[in-house]
Amino acid sequence: MIAHGRILERLKEGTAPHHAAAEQRLDLENRLRDSSAYAALIGRLCGFYRPLESALGRVRGYEELDLRFSERSKAHHLVNDLAELGHAPDRFPICPPPQVPSLGDALGRMYVLEGATLGGRMISRMVEARLGFTPERGCAFFASYGDRVGAMWTAFRSALVRFATTPEVEREIIVAAVDTFDRFNSWLASAGERP
Ligand code: HEM
Repeated sequence: MIAHGRILERLKEGTAPHHAAAEQRLDLENRLRDSSAYAALIGRLCGFYRPLESALGRVRGYEELDLRFSERSKAHHLVNDLAELGHAPDRFPICPPPQVPSLGDALGRMYVLEGATLGGRMISRMVEARLGFTPERGCAFFASYGDRVGAMWTAFRSALVRFATTPEVEREIIVAAVDTFDRFNSWLASAGERP
């Protein structure tokens, strides 16, 4: 079957309410109110990203889609930001990762983590304006990919289109994306207030 862009529309439409919930869960007004609340957020995100990225990194086949997983890992930025904020990552709870049985499932989950870099640009500017942390010091995660955000997103979307050539694969990707948003939102909902 010939590749088309339908997966991109379906993903965006299918996850729109979950994206809205994620924005609400992030609750930036509250979590950027001071550096201690910001550190608690970074710790919570670290507990989510580290195990999920480890699970995604064990999946094979990214190279065939011209994707390098290691280039897209962002958990180390969270660890570095925590260190700048004076916290060890190991004192934060870990979110149990999902099973990732296939490349399609992995791509659906990556869609959520890759898309989050788009909002990240705006968030990193807010963090700098309110708390003074910069991409070089304390706010590397939200500034992930720097000037390459657009190019990284375009390359990822193109890999999705090339991979999603059947309705079954499309469905697998969308189910994994929705599940990832749900896990993210539940994880943030149960976040502790202080590190
Ligand atoms: C306050 C927090 C957030 C804001 C303001 C925000 C903002 C945005 C914006 C402006 C875009 C569109 C960018 C573009 O098309 O160029 C976008 C896309 C996206 N964001 Fe967020 N975002 C936030 C949080 C999140 C979170 C926490 C996640 C995931 C955990 C996420 C996942 C995504 C995804 C997957 C897309 C791509 C949608 C598509 O298919 O086009 N966002 N976000």
